[in-house]
Amino acid sequence: MSAILLRDATPDDALCLGVLGMQVFLDTYATQGIRGSIATEVLEAFAPQVMARLIADPGISLLVAESNQHLVGFAQVKLNACHPMIEAPDVAELQRLYIQERFTGLGIGYQLLQAAEQCATLGGASLLWATVWDGNKRALGFYPRRGYGLLGSPVYTFQGESHGNRLFGKALGVTAI
Ligand SMILES: CC(C)(COP(=O)(O)OP(=O)(O)OC[C@H]1O[C@@H](n2cnc3c(N)ncnc32)[C@H](O)[C@@H]1OP(=O)(O)O)[C@@H](O)C(=O)NCCC(=O)NCCS
Repeated sequence: MSAILLRDATPDDALCLGVLGMQVFLDTYATQGIRGSIATEVLEAFAPQVMARLIADPGISLLVAESNQHLVGFAQVKLNACHPMIEAPDVAELQRLYIQERFTGLGIGYQLLQAAEQCATLGGASLLWATVWDGNKRALGFYPRRGYGLLGSPVYTFQGESHGNRLFGKALGVTAI
């Protein structure tokens, strides 16, 4: 495998980031096939102009993993992102951690997670949190093994559907909360 390069996303990444996001989203959440809500969500959430706005947003950091000049993963961090189940001030959200399926299990997710934690710390965050869909067994195991504690079980709604989630968080600068 080629070396993995981590870097900040640039405006030129919007198209490829969006398509990578669509691929990983569908692999992860379209577990029963494609229905209208999933199709609408994926086309809206990862449209190139939406990704371009995220890249340009000063409150959001997008870190990409590149292999042989191809995008294979990314992490999206939002600073000052409070959550009703978290009392600590100055917390950041890991909004997405997406690795293309062929590149999973190689440590890229962990590398991007560490870079996301570093970015949140530099932005003044005391804790990084993420929500994981109840049906995403791999991610439910991934975060606790990297020092993230279970903080609650919120419900996530998209396109009029409600889905059970788990809220994970890690105090930055220590190994576990
Ligand atoms: C969950 C996800 C982010 C994990 O990313 P990943 O790159 O597969 O994670 P890693 O490779 O760092 O770690 C996974 C396993 O690979 C193994 N691994 C790590 N480095 C490795 C290496 N160099 N060689 C082989 N295996 C390795 C580890 O044993 C690890 O297992 P562990 O969790 O039991 O410790 C990824 O599967 C993914 O993007 N899934 C789809 C989207 C998603 O669910 N995102 C999270 C919710 S937003």
